[in-house]
Amino acid sequence: MIRRATAVSIVLLLFAALGAPAPAHADEIPYVTTPNAVVDAMLSIAGVGARDHLIDLGSGDGRIVITAAKRFGTRGVGIELDGELVARSRENAAREGVSDKVKFLKQDLFASDFRDATVLTMYLLPEVNQDLRPTILFELRPGTRIVSHDWDMGDWKPDGKQVIPTPGKTVWPMEQSTVYLWIVPARVAGYWRGTLAGPDGEERVAIEFAQRFQETSANVWLKRWAMAGAGRIHGNRVSLRLDRSPWKPGSAPLRFTLQVRDGRIEGEASDGQERFVLRAKRVVN
Ligand SMILES: C[S@@+](CC[C@H](N)C(=O)[O-])C[C@H]1O[C@@H](n2cnc3c(N)ncnc32)[C@H](O)[C@@H]1O
Repeated sequence: MIRRATAVSIVLLLFAALGAPAPAHADEIPYVTTPNAVVDAMLSIAGVGARDHLIDLGSGDGRIVITAAKRFGTRGVGIELDGELVARSRENAAREGVSDKVKFLKQDLFASDFRDATVLTMYLLPEVNQDLRPTILFELRPGTRIVSHDWDMGDWKPDGKQVIPTPGKTVWPMEQSTVYLWIVPARVAGYWRGTLAGPDGEERVAIEFAQRFQETSANVWLKRWAMAGAGRIHGNRVSLRLDRSPWKPGSAPLRFTLQVRDGRIEGEASDGQERFVLRAKRVVN
């Protein structure tokens, strides 16, 4: 809380120093609107479409939710603490003809359930993003897209990033905005047991995955040999490159594309000549 309060104070001091009007709802996260060009970039980097369910945390005048509904027919929810802004958002939605697609809730985002989102948007504060990180990583479904205006997620590196010139933007960082995208990675860390089927038949395997956000490394043990490698997690999909040279000197690595779902991981590696199929079940988290 102290660190968040410090960040809020810095933002408010910047407002004061710039002679900008004091944010209307400044007790925590100030009300500052995302420029329309940045709203467009946020929706575009996330590839928002008609089948998405978009939730904007701290929705202000509702512009992100309303723009998505108007452009793409996206269903959306804005969560906003300030009752006046909620009322304004509802008026804006009615004026734009999207009241049937969107909802605005007068609610504290920290006490809200946003597990239904397929896209989560936010323009909050750096410390608040950090506070939300455990909920995002452990409660949202793998594959959920998270888009943040200007503030990153610390050492959780983004899967996408775009800088947009915003002439006339008077809050820091001025004259430009950055849009960040993260894809919630499936959790693979832990121990798995299963089988590896290849040209020489099928063998039992034990796998240990380590994971740091969307990056992973793995050890795969077979009866008489082992493979190690690293990869990337994109929602439920894991791309894993396993080195088998200690076992077969000079051989190319196996490049697996695996799907993770309900405690199971499976997929294949194929180089045109040899095909390997890996299937395993999680045994220990
Ligand atoms: C920087 S504004 C962003 C507004 C809008 N999302 C946009 O990008 O234009 C942050 C918003 O969060 C709201 N807010 C602050 N604390 C909140 C909380 N605990 N729960 C919900 N909304 C909150 C503020 O009232 C403000 O409207």
